[in-house]
Amino acid sequence: MNTPSFSVEGKITIVTGASRGIGNALALGFAEAGAPVALVARTASELEATAQRIRDNGGKALVAPADVTKRGHVEQMVEGVVREFGRIDVLLNVAGGAGTKQLRPPLEISDELWDELQDRNLKSVFLVNQAVARVMVEQRSGSIINISSLSGTKPVALEAAAGAAKAGVNQLTRAFAIAWAPYNVRVNAIAPGLTLTPRAMKGLGPELVEKFSKDIPLGRAARPEDHLGLAIFLASDASAFITGAIIPSDGGPQ
Ligand SMILES: NC(=O)c1ccc[n+]([C@@H]2O[C@H](COP(=O)([O-])OP(=O)(O)OC[C@H]3O[C@@H](n4cnc5c(N)ncnc54)[C@H](OP(=O)(O)O)[C@@H]3O)[C@@H](O)[C@H]2O)c1
Repeated sequence: MNTPSFSVEGKITIVTGASRGIGNALALGFAEAGAPVALVARTASELEATAQRIRDNGGKALVAPADVTKRGHVEQMVEGVVREFGRIDVLLNVAGGAGTKQLRPPLEISDELWDELQDRNLKSVFLVNQAVARVMVEQRSGSIINISSLSGTKPVALEAAAGAAKAGVNQLTRAFAIAWAPYNVRVNAIAPGLTLTPRAMKGLGPELVEKFSKDIPLGRAARPEDHLGLAIFLASDASAFITGAIIPSDGGPQ
């Protein structure tokens, strides 16, 4: 029997949210594993710095700035990646997040906050998955990995709006998986628990980080790179029979 390939070497990979936090760790990890990466976020200067780090290590990186809540930006970004690399093998759809301003009792959620969180966390997944899948369906191959959240399955009163968006990401992931399975395009999601990105640490502060970490069976919050192994597995041919799965990466059931 042939050992399955866990390699992502040479796989053209788009990473949204690549400038900071989890997306940055995944972009650097995929590049180190030999994948040419297209780096997406709104702030071009931060993407340039990440691209330079990758090139200095002998990797390939394209800076592809875009606001993933805007269809025009997303379509232009995907066209640019195809122009540069000729195809798309993997999408790591990481851009999103809420920040501590989302931690509000439901009676205090304004229309503006609701719309902002749904746009950044749910509409963005719809737009980027759709634009990338048009290319992958044509190719008859591809792996899409959406970054969801523990808050998409675990109800938390103070995270009602972002949790609803992430529950939507889970359902889009499953529906897209069924739609594109006939074309050998797989769609899965990783659901991280608390992850110590600079944003999360600054927003929560050391006391809340310690309090929340105590509820995690493995006894600590994740580092951004803790999600890399699962992402590489889902992008590689070793996971060829897995689609429509929402896989926790959260340190144990909570
Ligand atoms: N950290 C956690 O504890 C945790 C837990 C569960 C799930 N997650 C999920 O993991 C993902 C990453 O979280 P993180 O903590 O790493 O976030 P982060 O550090 O705040 O980074 C967010 C990234 O997304 C980009 N981004 C934000 N809005 C964008 C937009 N409209 N268009 C394009 N890019 C945009 C940001 O760059 P620009 O601002 O320059 O655009 C940045 O690169 C999110 O989907 C989040 O919900 C995080």
